[in-house]
Amino acid sequence: MDRLLVSVSILILLNLFFFSEEVDSASFKLVNRCRSTIWPGFLSGAQTAQLPNSGFVLYSGKSKTIHIPKNWSGRIWARTHCSIDAQGKFSCLTADCGSGKIECAGGGAKPPATLAEFTLNGADGLDFYDVSLVDGYNLPMLIVPKGGTRGGCGATGCLVDLNGACPAELKVAREHGRGSVACRSACEAFGQPQFCCSGAYATPDTCAPSVYSLYFKHACPRSYSYAYDDKTSTYTCASADYLIIFCPLPYTSQKVLGARKDGIGLPLVNKTMMYLRSQHSSRSSSSGLAQPQFIAVSSLASFLLAYKLYD
Ligand SMILES: *[C@@H]1O[C@H](CO)[C@@H](O)[C@H](O)[C@H]1NC(C)=O
Ligand SMILES: *[C@@H]1O[C@H](CO)[C@@H](O)[C@H](O)[C@H]1NC(C)=O
Repeated sequence: MDRLLVSVSILILLNLFFFSEEVDSASFKLVNRCRSTIWPGFLSGAQTAQLPNSGFVLYSGKSKTIHIPKNWSGRIWARTHCSIDAQGKFSCLTADCGSGKIECAGGGAKPPATLAEFTLNGADGLDFYDVSLVDGYNLPMLIVPKGGTRGGCGATGCLVDLNGACPAELKVAREHGRGSVACRSACEAFGQPQFCCSGAYATPDTCAPSVYSLYFKHACPRSYSYAYDDKTSTYTCASADYLIIFCPLPYTSQKVLGARKDGIGLPLVNKTMMYLRSQHSSRSSSSGLAQPQFIAVSSLASFLLAYKLYD
């Protein structure tokens, strides 16, 4: 009898333990669909403690699930082209967090970087999330909420490869090679108040989108493109877990992810802006806005593949 009682108590305790963990944290599954290795980084907002694991390596094709406290707010991004020098200092060509180590430990992403921004359990118990190109762009990223109980729970992100077609004056080139690894924001590239929404342009009424921010916005209609971009770029969902895919397949998005409550009016991908990387590498662009290539994408096979991948 006693043994039974002890067993039952242990079971109840175990249940409580798992249940409370479920309530206190959200699971974030990070997936690397890029062709090369990436190094995700995390920076907590001013009000929240840094996560115990603020940076790690994620090989191509791999995924990693982490648990994030329900009251967390902060940014998630991915560093690319990282290496360790002779002195043992770790650094990355894009989105480096300046810590000299794989862990970011409180360091933020050096622009340009595509940023996933989260405020979990905010107003009305909703999670707020967006993908921001305000600090530039370094790789495609997609956020998909899973199992949310309230809110629109739409997918958001920037699925187009903007590096190849990046305007020449915003391009970040690879050190000793051809091709670009990131695309700067006009604010970072030119430092002028009208691009940075600073000085005389520090209000939503005075800071208008620029030809540069429109380049980002047209390609990725759901992403933030400049400081006062419209509110449609922020998405909400309650009690969700999140899938964050780096370099998702752009042509899978529309049908698979568009059918949620949020963002129905805005496509995830603007197909007229989809760019063929292979065509670009043989072409040298001079100045001004490069003309994106047009690409037709709608095969049954790719949608079938998409359903398989996102489930
Ligand atoms: C967030 O939750 C953790 C664990 O439940 C707690 O230690 C921390 O104080 C909370 N932070 C805020 C800002 O509420
Ligand atoms: C798609 O791109 C074109 C060409 O840049 C642009 O005119 C159009 O407004 C974009 N569509 C959306 C929904 O952003």
